[in-house]
Amino acid sequence: MSAVLVTGGAGYIGSHTTRHLVEAGHRVCVLDNLYSGFREAVDPRASFVEGDIADADLLDRLFREEGIEAVIHFAGHIVVPESVADPLKYYRNNVASSLTLLERAAAAGVPHVVFSSSAAVYGMPDTIPVDETVPPAPINPYGATKLMTEWTLRDLAAAHDDFRYVALRYFNVAGAHTGGDLGQSTPEATHLIKVACEAACGKRDGMSIYGDDYDTPDGTCVRDYIHVDDLARAHLDALDWLEGGGDSAFLNCGYGRGYSVREVIDQVRAVSGVDFPVTIAGRRAGDPPALVADNARIRDLFGWQPRHDDLELICRTAYQWERKLLESGLRS
Ligand code: UFG
Repeated sequence: MSAVLVTGGAGYIGSHTTRHLVEAGHRVCVLDNLYSGFREAVDPRASFVEGDIADADLLDRLFREEGIEAVIHFAGHIVVPESVADPLKYYRNNVASSLTLLERAAAAGVPHVVFSSSAAVYGMPDTIPVDETVPPAPINPYGATKLMTEWTLRDLAAAHDDFRYVALRYFNVAGAHTGGDLGQSTPEATHLIKVACEAACGKRDGMSIYGDDYDTPDGTCVRDYIHVDDLARAHLDALDWLEGGGDSAFLNCGYGRGYSVREVIDQVRAVSGVDFPVTIAGRRAGDPPALVADNARIRDLFGWQPRHDDLELICRTAYQWERKLLESGLRS
């Protein structure tokens, strides 16, 4: 088992992955500036350093003192509409800061990086499901920043035989740890399932569907929702793959099936038993009509098998977590 630096390990996906890593016996050091993460979300068996991935001196010290053998890089901004409104914030943090991290990791001789990329690199693909041979064509700054870091990794690996990476292209990540003590806590949520769960809890009066005139079965957008625990396990598989000598790769992480916005809202209403108000609003800028993963490559390469490919479970765990936040007065 290796010593792993997890950047952004206090965030939603990072905290779940940290939990899985320590349970698998890895020694984990979490680096997070707590901009959008929460200290208490970090598993107590991991060490925690509050700091920024742009801090080269801090990184040099961590790589040296912690004997880091691999980096799992989650830290970054993730809100697509915000990236459109404030692109420099995204290029600064997601590209420039990632570059500092990769530069210092390379200087320290860290051989493996697992990177948190996104289906946003595909933009509006013509083919559904989309596989990794489809050329990336991001349509917003968020997707562009993820693609730039993928390219940095690709070029770094081409230049150094002793460096390899896996970039995981996440589709729509949702749900909460089945143990009930970890979940998504981001304030001012924009993601569909979290917004619907907040509406079901009465934390907001209702919600809007952004467009019901798409060329999809019920007119609303279709997405591939993946449970956060299955995604977290994909990171462990990626580490094992790299440590076992596997080649660098870009890999889709999704279940390969799509649900419409209406289907998701109906499911959240069903698991909560609350018929919260829903209105139809105009289309949201930059939303592709449908985005579904072809996940053959990650299944082939890692033998990755989803365990929670179940929209009901995803919505139920997300709803239970939202209730827990509300009842505990935590972050609400
Ligand atoms: N939606 C609504 N109402 C809401 C929130 C969302 O109708 O209140 C709709 C959106 O318009 C979209 C769908 O629900 O059609 C999913 O939206 P999300 O905001 O939950 O997720 P996105 O598909 O926009 O974004 C996700 C990830 C991004 C990633 C992107 C890849 O959150 O990080 O997938 O396309 F970049």
